Amino acid sequence: MSKLAGKVAVVTGSGRGIGAAIATRYAQEGAKVVVTDIDGDNANAVAERIKAHGGEAIAVTTDVSRKDQVDALIQATLDAFGAINVMVCNAGKVRDAVKHVLEADVEFFDSVIAANLRGHYMCSVAAAHHMARNGGGVIITTSSGGATRAHRGMTAYDASKGGIEALTRALALDLAPYNIRVVGLVPGLIAPDDAPPEALGKTAATVPLQRAGKSEDLAGPAVFLASDDAAYVTGSFVVVDGGVLFQQRSPEIETFPVTNFPTLS
Ligand SMILES: NC(=O)c1ccc[n+]([C@@H]2O[C@H](COP(=O)([O-])OP(=O)(O)OC[C@H]3O[C@@H](n4cnc5c(N)ncnc54)[C@H](O)[C@@H]3O)[C@@H](O)[C@H]2O)c1
Repeated sequence: MSKLAGKVAVVTGSGRGIGAAIATRYAQEGAKVVVTDIDGDNANAVAERIKAHGGEAIAVTTDVSRKDQVDALIQATLDAFGAINVMVCNAGKVRDAVKHVLEADVEFFDSVIAANLRGHYMCSVAAAHHMARNGGGVIITTSSGGATRAHRGMTAYDASKGGIEALTRALALDLAPYNIRVVGLVPGLIAPDDAPPEALGKTAATVPLQRAGKSEDLAGPAVFLASDDAAYVTGSFVVVDGGVLFQQRSPEIETFPVTNFPTLS
């Protein structure tokens, strides 16, 4: 496993969940990894775990909505590893981004946009300044099914994710001549690390592949997009959702439920 040997990768929001799974897998693939999160203790724990398994990692505490902290993240990466080849923008407000639009105020909207869309913009552009002067690189954004189909109670979140998809395409055009690819992951129904089994079962019933997603399900696609195997891929998205986004009917109202599918011997 050495698809990312010699690469330096920054993964934002990698103190837990999808980001932690991507950072861990990147290190297994030979990358030097910057584990960064607004929760510094979590970032430290992930970096220590990577090192305990023989990988190379540092932890940096960063709030991606703060320009001074994003600049400090870039500097800390260059000080430690001398380059930035891959920037994975994964950090975002997810669990605390749920509020009915009639109960939310503009401060709530701004806080979600700041962590998600503004955070993506600042991390991407800060990395691009370095990459454009040093032969190129890869920027990976993290969208959601909410960019194209709405979640109840997640107006600000869905607006941020729609913005992230537009940002991904626009950055890909501006940065292509500098050998910088900009691509997106679209996760769907990925269970949090601490999800109770009954929640996993409920989710599984709505997914064509019949199970809730795991954070690790994003790791392989994230390796592919960062690697030279994806050298001609830019401005597009990989949907990692077990088939949720393309299904027309929810299983609750399905006229031909999975239970009626043929049993094969
Ligand atoms: N889990 C899913 O089903 C799902 C579905 C679609 C999209 N996503 C996207 O995937 C990404 C990761 O989601 P997750 O499920 O692992 O969520 P999570 O809440 O487990 O992890 C998000 C991480 O981002 C960090 N974070 C939040 N705000 C930050 C900030 N301002 N600066 C730096 N770090 C910050 C958190 O501390 C946390 O460690 C998010 O962008 C999310 O929108 C997740």
